[in-house]
Amino acid sequence: MLKKVAILANGGDVSGFNAVIRAIIKTAENNGVECYGYIDGYRGLLKNNYVRLSTVASATASGILPKGGSIIGSSTNANVFNYKIEKEDGTVEYQDLSDVCVQNVKEAGFDCIFTLGGDGTQKSARDFSLKGINVIGVPKTIDNDVACTDITFGYNTAVSVAANALDRLHSTGETHHRIMVLEVMGRYAGWIALESAIAGGADVALIPEIPYDINRAVEKINGRRSRGKEFSIVVVAEGAIEKGGSLTIAGTRNNGEGVDNTKLGGVGVKVAKQLEELTGLESRCTVLGYMQRGGTPTAFDRVLSTKYGAKAMELALEGKFNVLTVIKNGRLDYVPLEDVVGNNKKIGAVSGNTKESNIRKVSMDDDLVKTARHIGICLGD
Ligand code: F6P
Repeated sequence: MLKKVAILANGGDVSGFNAVIRAIIKTAENNGVECYGYIDGYRGLLKNNYVRLSTVASATASGILPKGGSIIGSSTNANVFNYKIEKEDGTVEYQDLSDVCVQNVKEAGFDCIFTLGGDGTQKSARDFSLKGINVIGVPKTIDNDVACTDITFGYNTAVSVAANALDRLHSTGETHHRIMVLEVMGRYAGWIALESAIAGGADVALIPEIPYDINRAVEKINGRRSRGKEFSIVVVAEGAIEKGGSLTIAGTRNNGEGVDNTKLGGVGVKVAKQLEELTGLESRCTVLGYMQRGGTPTAFDRVLSTKYGAKAMELALEGKFNVLTVIKNGRLDYVPLEDVVGNNKKIGAVSGNTKESNIRKVSMDDDLVKTARHIGICLGD
């Protein structure tokens, strides 16, 4: 009998976190299960910091469906299996503190932990399941790069924000006869860039999966000019790479293994400069950044998050643990966490990413790629 469960939100925030949390709590309440939330993701699990969550009037989780962020916080770069400890003498050491977490869960009496996060979060969840903790993962990230699911919550909102930005760049670009470059997030996958390029009517989309030749983009822009279009719109994924080149990096951090220590950024400015030099047209770069993660979720993300949260709780009630809720061919489903993050299933792990990551990248036969090509969006190849 399921009595007490806890939710943990981990990794970079997305719009939709609270909608998942709400759906888990509501489904739990409807089945007589008590819900708790760890504060700041795996850090809260380590510090045994959790709160009671309830949706009854004026309670902790009431009215949160449209709210951005996470009411229980989230932590980035916290790998409790290799936790960074800064000592008083200034030295740094890494310790496996996962057994402290296991003890905390046991003492609290939680029958299941819901892990809302991306590939790194689900990898730790899988590792906790191997230590006897019941976990159920929910795939979160604006990057849409979690293996085994068609879509993660937060992604649709990020795409909508980017498409909206492209609409705005169109009018200013057209007025001043400029090339407007928009750098979007996505880490090592081009989902946000590609889908927003289609939604926002871009002329060029450069994604990590297709190393770009800048001359192809120049040809596209010059072709438009010859037809009287003096402006062009270019979307660049932060992980885009020039043919024969490498990632453009804004910085690195030292949080140990199992987390992504590479901070991407800067490729948009680089592309804008290249295009200005090669076309003679004035170019400007806008970096969309954290706008893609903050604020209220789209209706699509509210519904997706609610489906995921309710399904996660349904699985817990059925005793189906150590799985990830997914959307497969448009249907709500679940898969073993082992399939998502297991070391035997490396799906496009790339340098700069976590060592054992299984991220889902854009495949060349994806409908988005085909659609982009059909309507003449230049993909840099
Ligand atoms: O994974 C989500 C994401 O927003 C990426 O798109 C981006 O590269 C990264 O996180 C930024 O991380 P941080 O919050 O550490 O700056």
